[in-house]
Amino acid sequence: MTKKKLKIKPLVLIIFIILLVIGAIFILRKPSTKNINKSTTQKETTSPRKENKKLKELDYINEKIDYFNNDYLDRYLTYKKANPNLSIENIIINVNIGLDYPYYENVQEAKYQNTSYILVNKYNNLSKDYVPENLEAIDPAYSNGEKYMVSYAKDAFEELAKSAKEEGYNIYAMSTYRSYNYQNSLYNNYVSLDGKENADTYSARAGYSEHQTGLAADVYNKEKSYTEFEQTKEFTWMQENAYKFGFILRYPKDKVQETGYMYESWHYRYVGKEIADYIHKHNITYEEYFVKFIEGKK
Ligand code: DAL
Ligand code: ZN
Repeated sequence: MTKKKLKIKPLVLIIFIILLVIGAIFILRKPSTKNINKSTTQKETTSPRKENKKLKELDYINEKIDYFNNDYLDRYLTYKKANPNLSIENIIINVNIGLDYPYYENVQEAKYQNTSYILVNKYNNLSKDYVPENLEAIDPAYSNGEKYMVSYAKDAFEELAKSAKEEGYNIYAMSTYRSYNYQNSLYNNYVSLDGKENADTYSARAGYSEHQTGLAADVYNKEKSYTEFEQTKEFTWMQENAYKFGFILRYPKDKVQETGYMYESWHYRYVGKEIADYIHKHNITYEEYFVKFIEGKK
């Protein structure tokens, strides 16, 4: 009996020591969660396990679309919670546009200045001194007074108006390039007439107007007011043909939230033929096109 006991004791001791060593290694290698939470919140947000959990909540859409922005991960999830009925793709698009912030918050200076890709809206603005390069006056046969656009947009507009005229339609540019100061007085005038809340639905604040890019044109047929352009045969012609000349209807009826403005049947924006064709075919806004194909492909 005594002999047997002596044989078992060292074995138990060895097992005990092994367990002790394994335990010590385990404790030393695994940092406590408490420490991570207290000292390094950065580590917490970038932890691969947590990131994977977040991506899973977004159905791993990051693997399917190239305009997914990992920096916006938490914004996507917050927006998804607030908009549970939206598709994951629309969540990504809307957050990339900036729609998870109120208009005029989280504003940045418009990128691609002096190119036809520029996006100016309630999240992307222009400085007081931004005047586009190469402004040229539109042929007076197609405008109401001396109206300026960036040269290539002006050429495209003249082609459009000429082509319309040949088919029996009268399209004139009524308001095109507007300086910061001009937009400022226009907007302030609307505010004093109609109040700020209303004015913001149809007039851009200074620095936020696409007219300052020299790529936009408000049109009419000289018979009816521009606000009644939708009721003219010229509007129907524009719906069928504007994209062929590189122009899009910039503020469509069903896209008020995305563009930030009420429907404007008279406001057209030059984006170039290829982009105008895509936007026309897919019935999307320039905001959506921009975040998917211009920002997204960087
Ligand atoms: N009416 C458009 C939105 C502007 O003021 O630029
Ligand atoms: Zn306009």
